Amino acid sequence: MNPSNRPLEVCLQGLQRLEYRGYDSAGVAIVSPGMDQVAYEKKAGRLNNLKAALKRHPLPEGTVGIGHTRWATNGEPSDVNAHPHMSQDGKIALIHNGIIENANKLKFDLETEGYSFVSDTDTEVAAKLLGKVANQIIAQTGKPDLFEALRRTSKMLTGTFTLLAIDVRQPSIVVGSRHDSPLVIGVGKGESFLGSDVAAFVAYTHQAIEIGQDEAVEIEGDHVTVTDFDGHPVTPRHFTVDWDASAAEKGGWPSFMDKEIHEDPEAVSQTLMGRFDLDGRIKLDELHISVDELRSIDKIIVVACGTASYAGLVARYAVEHWCRIPVEVELAHEFRYRDPILTPRTLVVAISQSGETMDTLMAIRHAREQGSKVLAICNTQGSSIPRESDAVLYTHAGPEVAVASTKAFVAQIAAAYLLGLYLAQVRGIMFKDEIETQLNALRAMPKKIQWVLDHDVDTIKKTAQKMVSSKAFLFLGRYVGYPVALEGALKLKEVSYTFSEGFAAGELKHGPIALVDEGTPIVVIVPSPRGRNVLHNKVISNVEEVKARGADTIAVAEVGDRKAAEYADVVFWRPECPTLMSPLVDVVPLQLFAMYMAMAKGNDVDKPRNLAKSVTVE
Ligand code: AGP
Repeated sequence: MNPSNRPLEVCLQGLQRLEYRGYDSAGVAIVSPGMDQVAYEKKAGRLNNLKAALKRHPLPEGTVGIGHTRWATNGEPSDVNAHPHMSQDGKIALIHNGIIENANKLKFDLETEGYSFVSDTDTEVAAKLLGKVANQIIAQTGKPDLFEALRRTSKMLTGTFTLLAIDVRQPSIVVGSRHDSPLVIGVGKGESFLGSDVAAFVAYTHQAIEIGQDEAVEIEGDHVTVTDFDGHPVTPRHFTVDWDASAAEKGGWPSFMDKEIHEDPEAVSQTLMGRFDLDGRIKLDELHISVDELRSIDKIIVVACGTASYAGLVARYAVEHWCRIPVEVELAHEFRYRDPILTPRTLVVAISQSGETMDTLMAIRHAREQGSKVLAICNTQGSSIPRESDAVLYTHAGPEVAVASTKAFVAQIAAAYLLGLYLAQVRGIMFKDEIETQLNALRAMPKKIQWVLDHDVDTIKKTAQKMVSSKAFLFLGRYVGYPVALEGALKLKEVSYTFSEGFAAGELKHGPIALVDEGTPIVVIVPSPRGRNVLHNKVISNVEEVKARGADTIAVAEVGDRKAAEYADVVFWRPECPTLMSPLVDVVPLQLFAMYMAMAKGNDVDKPRNLAKSVTVE
């Protein structure tokens, strides 16, 4: 950020907003005219440790600054391994996201030349290398050129990186570069910002610019220059951030997770908003894949990780049913390595809240290399996955800060359903009134989600508190209830650190039932008794089977389901809705249950241990 009388303040508030991305240490560095060496402070632990250190030893005023929160991938979390890292002469500070794969080789070469290292990080290698290149440029040209030095350094690195650097000899600029790691620019009045995502600077400006793969940027005041690594100017894409800084604040809620679960209804309604023409037909303006191409698709492969992959699993039932196109759902990290059969008639749908999950990014690159079209369902503007896709359908869930994904899940299902119905529309598979029936059911879901949030929270909270010392949970579901069971189990393990696994209920007798013993807690997603009777009866028999073996059963069931009330020990009720829509309500009590369990254990629900919000490394 630059030139501003408040670089430190801007850095610290940006770090606060981005802390959810990684938080085992933090640091800042600033420069201003006349300084001989960069001024910096860095501390292991939460951002508050850094703030306390800055209070004890304030930094001088700066004209530009950089800040970093770290999630250790290379070298343990410690003060010395925290970023920024310095050049040998202390004139340049550098921060880095990603992993530099050739760091060992570069370090060896630098050590041979007399460079010494204080940390175990790959980042320090990049900092020392940048310092060396910067000094070579000064020796050659007689003047400093940090921008060129960073470009040259970037070309020497392999792996994944976003780099930002400042130099005491050019105290009005910040330079950055990216390769397989996120970086966006914010442009304010007389100042600019660089951040891993727009949350870093949305409090100061809504005007943002994307930086493409293998591009570098220099900011000076509100002047922004973007080039490729060879120095050729590029024209980047500008966009306006469509949410306010307040959306990424707790706003009175005890945690972001609590707030975001309560935003489930809005996440669905916002995702549906503005996607219909005057005749009520679906129009997806941002979908830059032609109707002819969409008509020619003969297979859809969804690639995603974690919660996003479970949203894909839910969507498979609906999209196959509506469009009669085979849908495969694959974890992105597995997809890449199994030599999937992809053709130009395959549509690969990448689902990602952050748009930065490296596994998913690599999967879509692989798909595009094979000639398939890629459509991203994503919640984050300006992020890498939509930028590298042929088309994007944004979920409008607003920023999701808690590490555990909640509102993004329901928004992803809503977006995937819209896509499915759109495909049915352009391919002429369903009649207009059939599509309308489904759309009306979808539009009714925000109110039904709200019903769960208004009615059953107390039962859920008390049940979580009662079961706080249970060692392991099994989650069972059938048909669309199966991915909901997987998601319920993921939420619980993620925030409450309780061992939990989701199973297809039909699989019970093929193995998992051996785990059931006196008092084993089992959560069962019960389908509507009004829907396909056979589905309901089968799941109720599963409840009976586990009950007979002493299990403690929790059912998520539709209001009025007498059998669920009869057989389960506790029921989390949800309102009536068509079966295909039920995941949107069934998941809500499970999100709350996980959160209350984590709270009862005294865990930090927003920042569970060992996890980061965006997994930007493979
Ligand atoms: C969800 O609670 C998890 N934190 C995680 O599984 C997440 O969904 C996954 O890492 C994918 O992230 P993305 O949606 O940002 O790609």
